Amino acid sequence: MRPNFTNSPFPIIMLEETDSTNRYLTDLCNTSQPAPAEFTTIATRFQTSGKGQRGNSWESEAGSNLLFSTVLYPHFLAVQRQFVLSQMVSLAVKEELDTYTDEISIKWPNDIYWKGKKISGILIENVLQGISIGQCIIGIGININQVVFHSPAPNPVSLKQITGCDYHPLEILQGFLQRLNTYYQHLQTATDEHFQMCIADRYQKALFRREGFHAYADAHGTFMARLADIEPDGRLVLEDEQGCLRKYLFKEVQYVL
Ligand code: BTN
Repeated sequence: MRPNFTNSPFPIIMLEETDSTNRYLTDLCNTSQPAPAEFTTIATRFQTSGKGQRGNSWESEAGSNLLFSTVLYPHFLAVQRQFVLSQMVSLAVKEELDTYTDEISIKWPNDIYWKGKKISGILIENVLQGISIGQCIIGIGININQVVFHSPAPNPVSLKQITGCDYHPLEILQGFLQRLNTYYQHLQTATDEHFQMCIADRYQKALFRREGFHAYADAHGTFMARLADIEPDGRLVLEDEQGCLRKYLFKEVQYVL
């Protein structure tokens, strides 16, 4: 497919179809000299092999939703601080969707939910360079205008199902990129630790199941717990009904919905 360039402050390449925008952008970064500018964004109407987390696929009806990937080179960010990128991206998606509807939250670590349903998924692929992040490909799918979902993915929802209205996916893309750019500028210029604390605080306030006891499942079975903390490296800390703290990395615990 030949790329189309849209009129935007960010370099956006629009493709009619591709296998995966993450894969396309990774290839572009590996083969371009000089490397694509930061915030170079690949968006498409349809993916034949969209990638999800945990090796899952990401299904999306042709032309209905927002499917894109963008690239950053946060060389200034130490590997152990990479979770801040995930927090910023999740907040930028949540805050953009907040302008269209209430009750958007972030399900740890970076799913975007409306009530108990998933409206957006995020797949971040980092390339490490020594002790810092050399390249960060941020892939995002947001369900916008699709009203029937066929994939086995549990509990999907779209903006149209929530509000009854149709939207222009590219307008939502612009809004997201502006929000992420603002966060990213701050990350580079503000006192690192102070800014990261502000982000962590905002992220915690935006979390799904922020209050009360809910069901979770780990390798030992199902249990009730409340969300106690998110550690700077992204670990989820749950407090069970006996008052014990249980700490989890991504994939070590499931939310029982
Ligand atoms: C998840 O499983 O929740 C993450 C889904 C991420 C899907 C997006 S769609 C655009 C980008 N390209 C991909 O292949 N995946 C991401």
